[in-house]
Amino acid sequence: MSDSTDWMKRGLVEQPLEPVDLRTDIPHSARMYDYWLGGKTNFPPDRAMGELFEQVIPGIKVMARENRRFLGRAVRYLAQEEGIRQFLDIGTGIPTEGNTHEVAQAAAEESRVVYVDNDPIVLAHARALMDSSSAGRTAYIHADLMEPEKILADPALTRTLDLDRPVGLTLVAILMLIADQDDPWGRVQVLLDALAPGSCVAITHPGSDFDPVAMDAVVAAAAKGEMVLVPRTRAEVERFFGDWELLEPGVVPVLGWRPDGEAPADPAAAFYWSGVARKR
Ligand SMILES: C[S@@+](CC[C@H](N)C(=O)[O-])C[C@H]1O[C@@H](n2cnc3c(N)ncnc32)[C@H](O)[C@@H]1O
Repeated sequence: MSDSTDWMKRGLVEQPLEPVDLRTDIPHSARMYDYWLGGKTNFPPDRAMGELFEQVIPGIKVMARENRRFLGRAVRYLAQEEGIRQFLDIGTGIPTEGNTHEVAQAAAEESRVVYVDNDPIVLAHARALMDSSSAGRTAYIHADLMEPEKILADPALTRTLDLDRPVGLTLVAILMLIADQDDPWGRVQVLLDALAPGSCVAITHPGSDFDPVAMDAVVAAAAKGEMVLVPRTRAEVERFFGDWELLEPGVVPVLGWRPDGEAPADPAAAFYWSGVARKR
């Protein structure tokens, strides 16, 4: 059990939460991802499921790292090339190297970042997300993408971001955790509608069309662990961007989205679609 009065004292939540059970007896996506990235905030069921995925997709740890590197490239691009100074990072994950505010504030120290995650273990580690530059600001909201209106109305968000000015929304490796019947496209649209022209959205999503047999196997493994996992086709991922203008190079394998160095020999070696779009 975690004590949320401590989180309140740290300014992470406005009111004490109900006592939280971290459910370390079942795998959680944030902790499996932490395991693949080489972190220490994971438990035996997370590692067991992480290893099961790895048996089917041996490159999964590299793919997770490449997904994380995309987050860095996209945030840097938004800060440097699009002039964005406010970010909304939904599905933040357990803090690790290259958190959004670190990348954004390295590019422009006045950048403001609001983080959102629904996993209590991320909340428990959120202090690491609050070490903002003095010129900028960060906030953390314990909330669910299934309730986008609540996220947008949260006082921590409205205190930190000015929604009349452009925002960089990041939805990096989160949308595959929402089933089609829960309408992830509709939830994302609520967020897109709330943002000002000039705002951008950066998305990554595991693709069902890179290696369908392996993807079917990990989906089956996830289901046994009571996890929702929905890899999607490139066309399904493109729908998340609505009518926003897709920036070059469009929705592409994550290795091929504006690589830092040389173009990768095989962009499809990491099974994530990725893209960034701008509101006209
Ligand atoms: C695979 S991690 C990705 C972390 C980070 N975005 C990255 O790419 O490095 C997915 C994160 O989304 C969070 N998440 C899953 N479903 C969510 C939801 N419905 N609302 C908010 N957060 C969610 C998980 O707790 C986890 O921390």
